Amino acid sequence: MELPYHFDDGQRAVVFHRHALPAPWINYLSNGTLHAFVSQAGGGFCWWRSPVIYRLTRYRHYNLPIDSPGFYVYIREPDGTTWSPSFRPCETPLDTWEARHQPGRTTFTARRGDIEASLALFVAPDHDAMVWDLRLKNHGLRAVALDVFGYVELSQLIWLKEVTFGYYNKWMVRVDHDADLDAVLYLNHLEDQPRMDRSPLVYFASTRLSASFSGNRDLFCGPYRDERRPVAVERGQCENSSLRGGEGCAALQVKAPLAAGGEERLAFFLGATPGVLKNLPGAIAAAHETLRQLRAPGAVQEQSDKVDAWWREHLDVMQCAIPDADAQRQINTWNPVQSVHTGRYSRSISSAATGLRGIGFRDTCQDMLAIAYRKPQWAKEMLLYQLALQFEDGHTANQSWPEENRPAEESPRSDNHLWLPLLVSAVVSETGDLGLLDAPVPFLAPDLVSKVGLATVWEHLMRVTAFTESHLGAHGLPLILLSDWNDHIGTFAREGRGETLMAAQQYVYALRLMLALAEACGDRASAEKLGGLLEKQCATIRAHGWDGQWWRRAYDDDGRPVGTSSDTYGRVWLNTQSWAVLGQVDGRDRLVRGMDAVRQWLDTDYGLRLLAPGFPTWPEVDRPAVKGLPPGCAENGGVFCHANTWAIIAEAMLGRAENAWKYYRQLIPHITLQTVGLERYQAEPYAYVSTVFGPENVRHGWANVAQVTGTAAWMDVAATQYLLGVRPEPAGLRIDPCIPADWRSFEVSRTFRGCRLRIEVDNRAGVEKGVAALVVDGRAVDASKAPVIPASWLAGQATAHVSVRMG
Ligand code: GLC
Repeated sequence: MELPYHFDDGQRAVVFHRHALPAPWINYLSNGTLHAFVSQAGGGFCWWRSPVIYRLTRYRHYNLPIDSPGFYVYIREPDGTTWSPSFRPCETPLDTWEARHQPGRTTFTARRGDIEASLALFVAPDHDAMVWDLRLKNHGLRAVALDVFGYVELSQLIWLKEVTFGYYNKWMVRVDHDADLDAVLYLNHLEDQPRMDRSPLVYFASTRLSASFSGNRDLFCGPYRDERRPVAVERGQCENSSLRGGEGCAALQVKAPLAAGGEERLAFFLGATPGVLKNLPGAIAAAHETLRQLRAPGAVQEQSDKVDAWWREHLDVMQCAIPDADAQRQINTWNPVQSVHTGRYSRSISSAATGLRGIGFRDTCQDMLAIAYRKPQWAKEMLLYQLALQFEDGHTANQSWPEENRPAEESPRSDNHLWLPLLVSAVVSETGDLGLLDAPVPFLAPDLVSKVGLATVWEHLMRVTAFTESHLGAHGLPLILLSDWNDHIGTFAREGRGETLMAAQQYVYALRLMLALAEACGDRASAEKLGGLLEKQCATIRAHGWDGQWWRRAYDDDGRPVGTSSDTYGRVWLNTQSWAVLGQVDGRDRLVRGMDAVRQWLDTDYGLRLLAPGFPTWPEVDRPAVKGLPPGCAENGGVFCHANTWAIIAEAMLGRAENAWKYYRQLIPHITLQTVGLERYQAEPYAYVSTVFGPENVRHGWANVAQVTGTAAWMDVAATQYLLGVRPEPAGLRIDPCIPADWRSFEVSRTFRGCRLRIEVDNRAGVEKGVAALVVDGRAVDASKAPVIPASWLAGQATAHVSVRMG
């Protein structure tokens, strides 16, 4: 199959050969406060802090043409021919074209006749401004006077109000050209913004003097036209229109005369400064200062270099050299890149997701697992934020909106609180900072806004166990409450008596992590208590969880088991097979048999189904087990990629590399896309999706919910910590790979607690798992006990060489 893209691994780039892909394949650009996403076709939008209340520019989700509008540059030649480096929106035929995504930057390079243009989009690390860095080159023998127009369509800031009341609220849109700044300024004086004190001033400016401007989208485009052929560009001049009500845009025309063989570089800046409604002169002054800095010679290049430096530092924390190019690219670049995005955006915003979801509690706990090992400080901040969303009885909020000044959302689930110990353990394991357990953190009050009480992080964790212990059902397993990780599992517990085996196993896993922390602190009393709870829950799981060939999934309101060999639908469920292993809830025999059932019943060549067979839905049945989802879709027997990661970890823990690597490789997006076929799969070949339609559905192979998925973090953890096996623990760094037997050697470089480790693994023995020797700078670890490099051996050392012999 001829693919419309290739990877340029040396540049950490994915390069697109045509714009017309089955879907927008996006890249996120961000400095942590100002954000944008942009597709291979230049579609996308920009927001400041929150995509729901500070949406600066427009993007029409679910619309036709897909993926518009975006960040549009029009190059107008003297004869009126107009084209765009991103191809869209003009769609003028070009002689050459490519788009490339790199971490933090998207670049379009195009040529038409003698003119070559390269447009790089990124967000300035030091300013809340997006930079459109345009380079032009004239390969011809004659001078050419080009006109360049930059254009964005403005949004009304508060997205939900825009789609519901935009026909009134557009009256509050005010756009002007400020002559001092030579910038288009946009402010929105809609009342009742969540934070009037923060409302941003939006500016659009250039490094060049502007020749004309537009603030009025409808005048810029012209009646019954769109961005493809705006009348202003056709005319060769914007109408210099301010706006006091209407559909806003920010457009600037600048002149770019190119000598024969000449080159020019210019930039547009799209930025925001806060507080415009309370202090207009202050906001303008801030924009002034930012523009003064960004317009200084060399500033654009400096900001661009800083983008690269941020990503280099982030990615360098762990890099591998392995005999599998597709896995290596994923592990070294694209997976950790996506983990940063999910760390920032949770499940909220993408070309398909509108941003309303805010931060999911369970989601962010999981997302931070992949941040903890690269940026533990960031993970720690989010951990403290999450802990303060726990109620005094131990359960937690379900959803929150940190930027939006609105109450958290509460609806108790079986699992939300159970993710906290995982995150605490990940942060402490990476940093070794056991003192974190003593940090005081408040609880969330019942009003869902204020904070009450103060308790140590450890006490918060103990309340996690208290909540689960006080919400056990008739069999002694956790009650389903509204759901566990499976959002739809609540259908088995409409009357509140159903029980979940997955949460039971997850609880055991959490208890094990807490036990390890208690032991590391020498807290014998807690260790004893946790050990008792652990034994009790394991015994309950063993007594009621095993079905004979695999693990059951749940019990319904009437005490009937779910996921048994006598069930017609939903006979085998993935999660309880893998979490049985993660929690080590029983001896090896049953753990292996559960995972054998996974291979036998759930595997497809493009991922593991979440359950099989899928349940029928309305109108065939009255009370569908999986609300309204057709068979093969998402939780109803779809390939749920997120859940595949736990099966990979489980197989790695069992030492079965063949299964682990099969499951890992078949979901590398570049591989899945090829297995399924581009037109069927549709999503990005460099970012995980949440779910792929399963074989029971006519659209089998269709990838859904791209980018914003827990798959990213867990796949990152699975690959680095369980397949390559470099896993932080409170006491040090475990090295316990599970690799294909035919790998003879591989290398990992990893920064751990300030020490740069070069880890060389020798597998001449040809095994899949097992460390026979582990030597750190000539000093041997007793690998027969546990292959863990004691953190004390690395203290104060800048580098260390680690040699590992498998066998
Ligand atoms: C989505 C949700 C997540 C849930 C999962 C399975 O990814 O964001 O919270 O656990 O689906 O239902």
